[in-house]
Amino acid sequence: MVKWTDFERATIQDIFSKIDYDVVGPAALSRCLIVYPWTQRYFGGFGNLYNAAAITSNPKVAAHGKVVISGLEKAVKNMDDIKTIYKDLSVLHSEKLQVDPDNFNLLADCLTIVVAGQIGAAFTPEVHAAFQKFLAVVVASLRKQYY
Ligand code: HEM
Repeated sequence: MVKWTDFERATIQDIFSKIDYDVVGPAALSRCLIVYPWTQRYFGGFGNLYNAAAITSNPKVAAHGKVVISGLEKAVKNMDDIKTIYKDLSVLHSEKLQVDPDNFNLLADCLTIVVAGQIGAAFTPEVHAAFQKFLAVVVASLRKQYY
């Protein structure tokens, strides 16, 4: 089981209490689709993703960005049990959606960039390390059903 320090627990709760889900989710997903365009292939049903302007103004991208953040919120609320919480989500991404699991890290990195922008100076190296660890556990849990 993953061990969390009090600082890490407090930091993750604090970050998620401060960020605006409606901004961070859509911004992170848009950034991922723009910077790593091959991730677009999984979102064929989302319509026009031809360029950055089309992606950032696409309502389906925005809605799905919020879905992703809600998915992360479940992990925040169950930090000691993320692998169990994510079991179905991992099966969905591997078996049904057939998402290449390397893409999880790409979205996690985009999320880090957007969160750092929102948190500003309070996103210290220690806070960054705690957030990075949280995302590593999320990604490992999403990958779990692949192997
Ligand atoms: C669906 C979370 C990464 C592609 C979902 C759903 C959640 C979620 C909560 C909705 C599941 C449901 O409807 O039951 C996450 C989290 C991620 C992540 C927490 C990592 C931090 C990715 C990545 C891709 C991806 C990297 C592809 C590049 C999809 C697709 C759907 C989906 C295509 C279905 C969208 C639709 O048609 O509505 N994801 N996801 N996900 N995810 Fe992910």
